[in-house]
Amino acid sequence: MKEWSKDSWRNKPILQQPTYKDLDLLKKVEMKLSKYPPLVFAQEVRSLKKRLSDVTEGKAFLLQGGDCAESFSEFNADNIRDFFKVFMQMSVALTFAGGKPVVKVGRIAGQFAKPRSSDFEEVNGEKIPSYRGDIINSIEPTLEAREPDPFRMLSAYNQSAATQNLIRAFARGGYADLRRVNQWNLDFTKGSNANKRYQSLADDIKKALDFMSAIGINSENTPLLNQTVLYTSHEALLLNYEEALTREDSISGKYYDCSAHMLWIGDRTRQLDHAHVEFLRGVENPIGVKAGPTTSVDDLLSLIDALNPQNESGKLNIIVRMGADAINEHLPPLIQAVQREGKKILWSSDPMHANTIKTSNNYKTREFDKVLKEITNFMEIHKAEGTIAGGVHLEMTGKDVTECIGGAQEITEDNLSSRYHTHCDPRLNASQALELSFLIADYLKNSKA
Ligand code: PEP
Ligand code: CO
Repeated sequence: MKEWSKDSWRNKPILQQPTYKDLDLLKKVEMKLSKYPPLVFAQEVRSLKKRLSDVTEGKAFLLQGGDCAESFSEFNADNIRDFFKVFMQMSVALTFAGGKPVVKVGRIAGQFAKPRSSDFEEVNGEKIPSYRGDIINSIEPTLEAREPDPFRMLSAYNQSAATQNLIRAFARGGYADLRRVNQWNLDFTKGSNANKRYQSLADDIKKALDFMSAIGINSENTPLLNQTVLYTSHEALLLNYEEALTREDSISGKYYDCSAHMLWIGDRTRQLDHAHVEFLRGVENPIGVKAGPTTSVDDLLSLIDALNPQNESGKLNIIVRMGADAINEHLPPLIQAVQREGKKILWSSDPMHANTIKTSNNYKTREFDKVLKEITNFMEIHKAEGTIAGGVHLEMTGKDVTECIGGAQEITEDNLSSRYHTHCDPRLNASQALELSFLIADYLKNSKA
């Protein structure tokens, strides 16, 4: 490998970064962060890589999802709990259908930095810097609030630590016990079709557990029945933060970015000779790269060589986000090239980012049907190529928001204003997320038969 150090990215061109005014303060914050405890441990990262290797080989399914952007203002236990609940429900639906374990990876505990299509926006005739995520500046549309503030990195770290702590408590402390499958229901989803289907699945699981218990297998002697693992991930966009949390593992002598188990590079910052690829090629974590419709075969093959030179299984996830229709033209040549070169790639589908539209009343939204269509096209393409559709990558919440239109709830453009809470892109609400999981589950079941 060409020489790499955790700050070698600083010599490369870089896009989508804030311009901090006070560089001494920035340095002080970076120093402080670099002494803080890691948020995840190298061994956990290695275990995720193993599980993603199973996904790459078609032995497991990847469910990745969470907020477009976490925020300081919406940080509370209820939001984390409700996300955890719906993620468990989705995972149960997918496991049952696919007959494979589901690897759960949240866009959580660190998903704070956002790439933007424009550096500035105009508010009431005034040109102000764009909002870049709570780790950088404030969403409040004033010149002062949009000034990048290094201290925000410390707040983001603290929020991530507290979030991670609660997730671990839920995952290991009994909340994830399969016997509680009914308690993962969210009140506002009651009565929906997806919820009825979930209820019947929950009844089947209960019966299976009763049977297993009768023959002596229960959560006391089989911890797998009452524990789960929810891994964390985010876009590694703000490299000052990522570098400060990157540590050398005392066992292997290798570098791990301990801000999350998995990190990804966005579609706007995946240039081969730029800083983000430089930084992430040196860490041991599993890495995702978003691939939009402009990703060429050459782009992809060079990225694969840079980010996974050893061709390790479970290391590299190409997250396809091309648009419900455009995917049919753009994805097959990429898959064919990867096959021809014998590269081990985990393919997943982000059906959100290329299906964003602006409504006439000026809301950014996504249509549920388009989201579903990009996923089913993704799966059809893999079936035709004889390759593995490894998973999905969703923007979603456990809350009853109205940000995406359609779904069984039939949210319309006019409903969007009612509970449009996102700090960035529109998310599937809990009912839509569960409904989508059942539709994916149906698809997995049918293609198994
Ligand atoms: C995101 O995942 O929030 C994002 C900005 O995606 P992309 O890089 O695919 O546009
Ligand atoms: Co987004």
